[in-house]
This record gives sequence, C-alpha cells and structure tokens, in this order.
Amino acid sequence: MVSVFTLTKQALTSLAFALLAQGFVIPGGPENEKRNGAGFVSLDFNVVRDAPHLNTTHVNTSDHNLASHAAKFVPLTLDNLGPTYVANITIGSNKQPQTVQIDTGSSDLWVFDIDLECENGLSCFGDGSRFNPKTSTTFESLGTKFSIEYADHSTSEGTWAKDTVGFGGISITKQQFADVNLTSSTNAIMGISVVGSESHQLGYDNVPITLKKQGIIKTNAYSLFLNEPEAATGQIIFGGVDHAKYSGSLIEEEIQTTVPQRLAINLNELNFNGTKYNISTPALLDSGTTLTYLEKNVADSLAAKVGAVWFPLPTGGAYVLGCGAGASGDALFTFEKGAAIRVPMSEFYYGQGLCTFGVQPIPEELGISALLGDNFLRHAYVLYNLDANTISLAPVNFTDKSDIEAI
Ligand SMILES: *[C@@H]1O[C@H](CO)[C@@H](O)[C@H](O)[C@H]1NC(C)=O
Ligand SMILES: *[C@@H]1O[C@H](CO)[C@@H](O)[C@H](O)[C@H]1NC(C)=O
Ligand SMILES: *[C@@H]1O[C@H](CO)[C@@H](O)[C@H](O)[C@H]1NC(C)=O
Ligand SMILES: *[C@@H]1O[C@H](CO)[C@@H](O)[C@H](O)[C@H]1NC(C)=O
Ligand SMILES: *[C@@H]1O[C@H](CO)[C@@H](O)[C@H](O)[C@H]1NC(C)=O
Ligand SMILES: *[C@@H]1O[C@H](CO)[C@@H](O)[C@H](O)[C@H]1NC(C)=O
Ligand SMILES: *[C@@H]1O[C@H](CO)[C@@H](O)[C@H](O)[C@H]1NC(C)=O
Repeated sequence: MVSVFTLTKQALTSLAFALLAQGFVIPGGPENEKRNGAGFVSLDFNVVRDAPHLNTTHVNTSDHNLASHAAKFVPLTLDNLGPTYVANITIGSNKQPQTVQIDTGSSDLWVFDIDLECENGLSCFGDGSRFNPKTSTTFESLGTKFSIEYADHSTSEGTWAKDTVGFGGISITKQQFADVNLTSSTNAIMGISVVGSESHQLGYDNVPITLKKQGIIKTNAYSLFLNEPEAATGQIIFGGVDHAKYSGSLIEEEIQTTVPQRLAINLNELNFNGTKYNISTPALLDSGTTLTYLEKNVADSLAAKVGAVWFPLPTGGAYVLGCGAGASGDALFTFEKGAAIRVPMSEFYYGQGLCTFGVQPIPEELGISALLGDNFLRHAYVLYNLDANTISLAPVNFTDKSDIEAI
C-alpha cells in the first residue's frame, strides 16, 4: 500500500460521521470543453458540494463552551464537508465518461470499475460513473495490483491497466491508470503530481507527462483556478496559463527538493488577521485536500485566537467553532520569493451552526509541516511547472474572461 499526502474529503467525512452524505453536481457553464489547438488543453471542473444533511436542532451555537458539550452535540450535526473539484474525462475506445477529482497531492489516475465494491459498507458512489473494461477495444490490463492509501486513510485497490484517456477535445493513448474494484473513497481521482509520488514502484508516465510526450502540450505544466467558494465550476489548463485570472504578476517559487517528490514551496510567514507567525517551512499545495494544515503549535495558537476548541474523535479529532462569529478579516500567506496570497477569514469556517476550523494541526505521520488545501488555493492562481521545478502564484481574479497562453 503506497501512502500519499492528500487528505481527501474522507478526513472530514469521518469527522462528521456523515458517511452517507449524498453528493450533487451543480451544473456547469455552457462551455465544458474547449481547446484551441495552440499547445494547451483546458479542462473545466465542477465544484461538487454535499447535499445538505444538516441537523442543527441540538447545536447551541451561542454556547461558547463547545468543548464540554461537544460530545453530546457534535456527531450528528457537523456539516463540514468542503467542496470537491471534479472533472469529466473519458476512458476507453468507446469514451466512457468518468468523474475524477483533480489532485495535485498525488500522481495516479484511477477510476471505479463496473464491479466496484465499497469497503466497510461505506458510501463510495461519487457521481456513479463506472468503467467497464470489457467494452473498450483499446483496454489493456497490466495484470498487476494497484493499491493506494491517502492521508485520511481512505484506500483503493484494483488492477493496473492502459487505455485511451480523453478530455477537453483531446485524447491520449495507452495511458496507465488503475481500474479500482474495492474502495473506501467517494471519488475517483486523477493525481497530476510528480512521478516520484506514484504508487507504482517503478514509476510511469502519468497524465501530464503523456500529454507532453504525445505532443498535446509543450511543457509539463498546468494552471489551477478553483474559482470562488460559491462558484459552480473552475478550470485547470494543461500546458497553459490564463493571464486574465490573476492580478499583479505571477511570482515564481521553487519546488523544494527537501520534500522529495512533492509539490511544496517555502512558506515564510502567515499573518493571521494581524498576528504574524514565522512559518519558514515547505508547504504542499494540494488541491485534493479541503482545509489547511499547519504545525500543531501554530494551529493551536490560531485556534485559540478564533476561539476554536479541540473536539477529540477516535480518528484524531479537529478544531471546531461556532460559525457565525468573527468571520471578518483575512490571513496573508507570504512565500520565500515574495508571492503573497490573501485568504478571507470566511475560508476558515466550514459548515453551518457548528463549524470546522479551516486550519488544523498537520498529522505528524505525514512528515511535513504545512499543507495548503483548497481554502488557500481558491484565492491564488497557481501555475505548477513540473519541468522547471517551480510553482508560480498570484492573487486570483475571479473573472469569466480568459487570455490563455501556451507555455
Ligand atoms: C460533467 O458531466 C456532467 C454529466 O454529463 C455534466 O452535467 C457536467 O456539466 C459536466 N461538467 C463539466 C465541468 O464539464
Ligand atoms: C434532528 O435531530 C433531532 C434530535 O436528535 C431529531 O429529533 C430530528 O428528527 C432530527 N431531524 C432530522 C431532519 O433528521
Ligand atoms: C444556548 O447557550 C447559551 C449560552 O450558554 C444559553 O444561554 C442558552 O440558553 C442556550 N440555548 C438553548 C436553546 O439551549
Ligand atoms: C478485483 O480485481 C482483482 C484482480 O483482478 C480480483 O482478484 C478481485 O477479486 C477483484 N475484487 C472484486 C471485489 O471484484
Ligand atoms: C480582474 O479582471 C477584470 C476583467 O478582466 C478586470 O477588469 C479587473 O481589473 C481585474 N482585477 C484586478 C484586481 O486585476
Ligand atoms: C523565521 O525562522 C527562521 C527559521 O527558524 C529564521 O531563520 C528566520 O530568521 C525567522 N524570521 C523572522 C522574521 O523571525
Ligand atoms: C480580525 O480583525 C478584525 C479587525 O481587528 C476584527 O474585527 C475581526 O473580528 C477579526 N476576526 C477574527 C476572526 O478574529
């Protein structure tokens, strides 16, 4: 079992005990797929939120002493699942539609097989898309076992295979991926990180590398635009950058080799609503993780500042707080080479009634000190350049306009 950093939605699901939460997809815009043939390919994704399964009847949000009441109140009432970023791709000669979560924290593409079983009776249906290898004439099983475990302990097992993968009007052939028939994950995943974090011992060409090798893009690079918290769609552009979607200039930070085979850059400082924290550590920018995770002493201090209390659970626990209070202000993340991203305070409150705090202590077993998830990433336009070993960031501009350049 290969472990990767991404704390998928499962981390929060288990926190809420809301294991049967149903997903729904907010319809996308009219242009789902576009490609202008100029050396890049853009892939729109849907922002999927869980259907409301709120039951706030027994949460007293005006009660500041949450800790003492938490054990009684919390389990059935937390609704703290952040949005998930999923895209439509196709697999097979017959272009079978698959919905996959775009994950910069892992490197493997895997989809649900038609005979999928959910581990432990969990709900793992996602949007219901399934792959049937028997109906694709280009399917080739590699016969070897795939297994992966994400940082939230969600797991998937299946068989390595190769087939045609399509999206955004292009297709790549003989792409290695895993056909999963046993999972505890709610989403299939398309990991787009580096070869070193693949769950195959020998490594292989993952989707961004194949896009380059098969001439679709010139550079193994992609730009991520998660869009506003309430938006229905966002976009990732492989091999290109959309200059309309940020303000100021993109500042290039170096991918840190001290965190081998991960997409981490040096985070210098966090100014949390006026209080400065000297972070000085590589931070992973992970689209597959909903919240932000920092070293325990920093997370503890931030939690104290906003009045969050620790709610212990068998799976580890989390800082929780009342949702309404104090959502004004912001947090400014400053990186080594000067990139600076401002995140509104509202991004640190997840849920309704009783909220999960947007910064949690990073699990020690991950061996890293900082992981910036979707609540950070929504406020940056992020160009990951895996060939140049850089990640460039600028404050995002939430706009429909686009000015895409191939890189
Ligand atoms: C993905 O496919 C579904 C079902 O066809 C569609 O409703 C949705 O708009 C598509 N999303 C994107 C981002 O293309
Ligand atoms: C919410 O919880 C209360 C108390 O446990 C229960 O009586 C009520 O039926 C629940 N409501 C829903 C919609 O589940
Ligand atoms: C909620 O908590 C506040 C403060 O502890 C208390 O004054 C109030 O009576 C509680 N309300 C309910 C409905 O329990
Ligand atoms: C999953 O696939 C493997 C390898 O083909 C097979 O041994 C196993 O029985 C399958 N499991 C399920 C639940 O279908
Ligand atoms: C954001 O984009 C819009 C539309 O292109 C533009 O008018 C506006 O000036 C941009 N804002 C910033 C802060 O760059
Ligand atoms: C922050 O911490 C680092 C490492 O401990 C140290 O080198 C640096 O001088 C500190 N910066 C500030 C502004 O205190
Ligand atoms: C952030 O600072 C502003 C101004 O000092 C204050 O009004 C607001 O309550 C603070 N927000 C939080 C979450 O502490």
